[in-house]
Amino acid sequence: EFIYELRDLSILEEKLKKILNLKNIYVVPGDFDNDQYILSDIGKEASKHILNTINDNNILGITGGTTMAEVANNMPNVHNLKDILVLPARGGIGKDLKTQSNNIAAKIAEKLNGSYKLLHIPDNIGKEALDTLMKFDEIKSLIDSIKKIDVLVFGIGRADTMAERRNLSEDIIDSLRTNKAVSEAFGYYFDTFGNIVRESNTVGLNLKDFKRIKNVIGIAAGAKKSEAILAITALRNDLTLIVDEGAARSILKKV
Ligand code: G3H
Repeated sequence: EFIYELRDLSILEEKLKKILNLKNIYVVPGDFDNDQYILSDIGKEASKHILNTINDNNILGITGGTTMAEVANNMPNVHNLKDILVLPARGGIGKDLKTQSNNIAAKIAEKLNGSYKLLHIPDNIGKEALDTLMKFDEIKSLIDSIKKIDVLVFGIGRADTMAERRNLSEDIIDSLRTNKAVSEAFGYYFDTFGNIVRESNTVGLNLKDFKRIKNVIGIAAGAKKSEAILAITALRNDLTLIVDEGAARSILKKV
């Protein structure tokens, strides 16, 4: 039965690759919407791909969220990599320590026997305060390093869920709805076609940087996220996508 399941999943991967015009799609069995433990399988799969991709002296960029937290939890301790620097790709700290990008960066760095830098920018900070913060050398040099990320691993979320989690105002939530935002990743809200609907007011990686990074790995689980994932596949077709079977089957039904 296990063999059948594997074969089934690789057929699913091939179908998705063709339809979405993506080179690298990996599907882990199960549906997160019915089984929350699937998230740690996504974390394991993502860790494997990070380790296959990363080289000595590389900068690894990461984002926050519950899926990314599972990457940190499931990353094995490795000792064969030299001088890996792990960075949060964008500012914004979130309310929950476990899912903050700073915390995830530190945890992954420890597992990779590398170092990390933290970006302390509160969520929903005003533009003026942000400009002032940007004048600090420490923040400036961190932003410079962010522009040099070699491998980026990021979580993909639903626009509505993320807007709520970030306590955005009713006005902003309304405008996201009007402009048909379905997806959120690294601080950007996108419509189905990957057009930017809104950019969070923070610092760090921008969409231009994202398009230049050599290796980008997007991760997400749950059928509920299928539209959000689809939107992200429009950004780059050399993206590596790691999703669960629930999301994969639901995407197939939508395209
Ligand atoms: O930007 C999207 C989020 O990282 C997704 O968060 O993994 O908690 O669903 P999540």
